[in-house]
Amino acid sequence: MSYKLEKINAARAALEFIKSGMVVGLGSGSTAKEFIELLAERIKKENLHIVGVPTSFDTRIFAHKLGIRIAEPDEVKRIDIAVDGADVATKTALLKGGGGALLREKVIAYAAKRFIVIADETKIKQQLQGKVVVETVPFAHQNVIQALHRYTKKVDYRSADVKLGPIITDNGNFLLDAEMLVSDPKKMEVELNTIPGVVENGIFTKFDRIIVGSKEGSRVL
Ligand code: A5P
Repeated sequence: MSYKLEKINAARAALEFIKSGMVVGLGSGSTAKEFIELLAERIKKENLHIVGVPTSFDTRIFAHKLGIRIAEPDEVKRIDIAVDGADVATKTALLKGGGGALLREKVIAYAAKRFIVIADETKIKQQLQGKVVVETVPFAHQNVIQALHRYTKKVDYRSADVKLGPIITDNGNFLLDAEMLVSDPKKMEVELNTIPGVVENGIFTKFDRIIVGSKEGSRVL
């Protein structure tokens, strides 16, 4: 199931926050793509002045094809709003990085004045449980795996389908997927980043609202 309609409905609700003149952080993944398509349509129809700051090469290529003006974070003075999806969402925290873009996603989401999360109903859970994605410099990956074993024995390299061996992220790093239940997301988000070699992890605890899309429309979590 792709839950396309649910994703479109969440994306449409997020679009209401966009005004001409804004710098918009563009998330990664299938839900974010629905938002980017709707944004591109609105820019054309209403002749809006929008600059998009993409969170991955994938999003950069996608947004560029749709004619959205693109900039890197160091080329803009501020990011007014960021809109992105999630793999797992509770009222207080998210798990992200299913598409491997967590580092740039977090940099842009946390730098933005406002961060809006868009998700279909299947992403909404009571507990933050699943794959905690950890981006690590290749040099330190064994040490990071050892350190993650303190929390869970279920730690795997993210491997590619069309390449042998580990995925290399947009930033030249490896990804580790660590399956666990996160009982204290704020503490864990900070703690994982203290492991030497870890660049960032996929626990997100700072956002302004989560818009949940359904077949009928959308609601705020
Ligand atoms: C990308 O690395 C992820 O954080 C995505 O934002 C997340 O996986 C949501 O993707 P979908 O909207 O495709 O489910």
